[in-house]
Formats: sequence, structure tokens, C-alpha cells
Amino acid sequence: MTKATNITWHDATITKQDRRSQNGHGSCVLWFTGLSGSGKSTIANAVSNELFQQGINEYVLDGDNVRHGLNKDLGFSEYDRTENIRRIGEVAKLFVDSGKIVTTAFISPFKSDRDGVRELFEDGEFIEIFIDCPIEECERRDPKQLYAKARSGQIKDFTGIDSPYEAPDRPELTIRSDQLSVEESVEAIFNFLKEKNII
Ligand code: ADX
Repeated sequence: MTKATNITWHDATITKQDRRSQNGHGSCVLWFTGLSGSGKSTIANAVSNELFQQGINEYVLDGDNVRHGLNKDLGFSEYDRTENIRRIGEVAKLFVDSGKIVTTAFISPFKSDRDGVRELFEDGEFIEIFIDCPIEECERRDPKQLYAKARSGQIKDFTGIDSPYEAPDRPELTIRSDQLSVEESVEAIFNFLKEKNII
């Protein structure tokens, strides 16, 4: 539901297809989901780097960064996480419309929120990638020392500790980030993009 009334949708003169043709590649969202410390940002940036080197139009939307700007009014309650993901979904849609391959690195713990984003896209545009890493390994890595803080009660509602993570049932791709190297993970994603004729 839109809150504003008296607004009219304007179809753009240049279409998504026009931009894709000019770019010489498709556009889509690589929607990463997984626990904090699972490697989402690392793999997203490695994918972005490789796409950029190959002259492909790309962009990364990263949870920690977006929460400094667009979503700085949001915390980690269930409502705020849902709103976080809803906004990112809409932003990702604009990027796909602009002809880019956009990678999003957000925990996005709730299935219904991810499915809601999927519905914004045409078939094949939303590629859900489960960055699958056992919580024990994420906690062992603890790159930002947040699991330690969550365990000691300094952070509340921490995903995997006292806030749930709902793994996807049928993601387009699963990356076992505790078993694959970053390079192997990037390769798996590139293979998928080639198989689907996106690049
Ligand atoms: S999401 O759940 O709404 O998708 P998002 O990916 O934007 O989360 O932000 C997660 C990042 O915020 C984590 O990588 C971590 O650095 C930080 N963070 C701070 N507090 C929490 C918390 N309670 N739960 C999870 N991540 C948190």
C-alpha cells in the first residue's frame, strides 16, 4: 500500500532491456544470506572485483554500510530487520533496472522477508545465495567480536544467539564457506551466471 495519493507511475523512455543491450550483459541481484561472520561481505566484494575486472557493471550493497546511511534509523528488532530488507529489496530492484549486477550482503534472517523481495523481481532476476557456514565456525572467526559480546549479554537480539536465522529451503546456490576458498566461491557464482547467460 502506498501512503501518498495523487501520484502517477511514469514509464521510463529507456528500458531495462535497452540498458542490458548496451552493456552486453544481463542484470540481476545476487542476494546473499547467512549468519554474521559467514563471509557474505568478503565473497560479495570478491565477486564484485572480478565482475569489474571483466568490464561488467556491478555494485555491492552491504549491511554494515547501508546501516550507516539509508537505514541508519533502523536497529535489529524484528520490525526493523524486515524494514531493512524491504528497503534494500527496492534499492536492488532499481539497480537491476539500471542494468547492473547488484550483490547484496545482508543477514536477511527471515524467509518471508526474502520471499517478499523475490516477488519484486521478474523470473530469474533474483538469485538467492545461501552463504552456509556453521555457527560454531562463525563464532570461532568472530571478526568483529560481536558473538563474544552477544554471549556476554552486551548485545541483544543477535542473529544465531538470541534472534533466529531461517535458512533458505531452495536457494539458487549454496556456498559452504567453511569448505570452499573465496576463489572457489567466486568461481561457483560465475559458473552460475554463465549457465544462465547473464554474463
Ligand atoms: S539484517 O538482519 O537486518 O539483515 P544486516 O545484514 O543489515 O542485518 O546487519 C548485520 C550486521 O550488523 C552484522 O554483520 C553485524 O556487524 C551488525 N550487528 C549489530 N548488531 C547485530 C545484531 N543484533 N544481530 C546481527 N547483526 C548485528
